[in-house]
Amino acid sequence: MTCVYCFSGSGRSRAVAEYFAAEFNSGVSDIGKLTPEQTACETAVVVFPVYCQNIPHPVRRFLKELMAKYVVLVATYGRISHGNVLWEAKKLISGEVIAGAYVPLGHSMLREEQQLETAPLSVILDRISSPRAVVIPREGKNIFADLFPALRSRLGVKMTRNFKCSECGICQRECPMGAMKMPVRNIRHDRSVRVKTGRKCIRCLHCVYKCPMSAIDFRLNPALAAYLSGKRQDMLKIFL
Ligand SMILES: Cc1cc2nc3c(=O)[nH]c(=O)nc-3n(C[C@H](O)[C@H](O)[C@H](O)COP(=O)(O)O)c2cc1C
Repeated sequence: MTCVYCFSGSGRSRAVAEYFAAEFNSGVSDIGKLTPEQTACETAVVVFPVYCQNIPHPVRRFLKELMAKYVVLVATYGRISHGNVLWEAKKLISGEVIAGAYVPLGHSMLREEQQLETAPLSVILDRISSPRAVVIPREGKNIFADLFPALRSRLGVKMTRNFKCSECGICQRECPMGAMKMPVRNIRHDRSVRVKTGRKCIRCLHCVYKCPMSAIDFRLNPALAAYLSGKRQDMLKIFL
């Protein structure tokens, strides 16, 4: 049996996970909302985004708990840098890694949309039907990448809530980190207020993309905006 697991802030990794799930007639299980029994499967396809050249916290925890004989690792990234996350993820897993992929997609902090091309990923389906261990190469990453990635994201991205907020609580319920603080009251029509999040917030932007009222917005600080306007890397890499 093949299970598809995913962590996704803005839905980009989820789109990749849904491609695999459709191929195996399975659903997509959300990392962070699983019971220990749900982490047991013969073959696991795990799809997650690269955040600050790192594996997001909930994914790291999940990979350590995962009970699968075979594992496929798929990391989506925003065409800045994928760092060394597949190699690092492989080290956390007890099962055998049979395939890996770095998939370049639109950058969620830049609100970039990009058509997902699934055809090149089909070779992974063949590998799942005849599993064999894969070598994931070690890649370079920025020397500062491991320095408090979540804190750097919080400093780099300011989030605000405007008067359209109806206090429906979706942002709080959907937050994969349980970091959203409610309630907010009396936001004037001409004003926005800072979104209150705890220190657990990793700025995955799930609240921004999920809000039905478009009441949550975000702004990048100039240093981060300048960094993101730099050279892009656009390579799909598949390891079999
Ligand atoms: C907090 C944060 C950090 C990110 N860091 C990187 C990065 O280091 N390199 C990169 O290429 N893209 C980076 N991105 C972009 C995402 O990896 C990319 O848009 C991904 O496809 C988003 O997937 P998701 O919608 O499933 O969260 C970052 C996005 C966020 C929100």
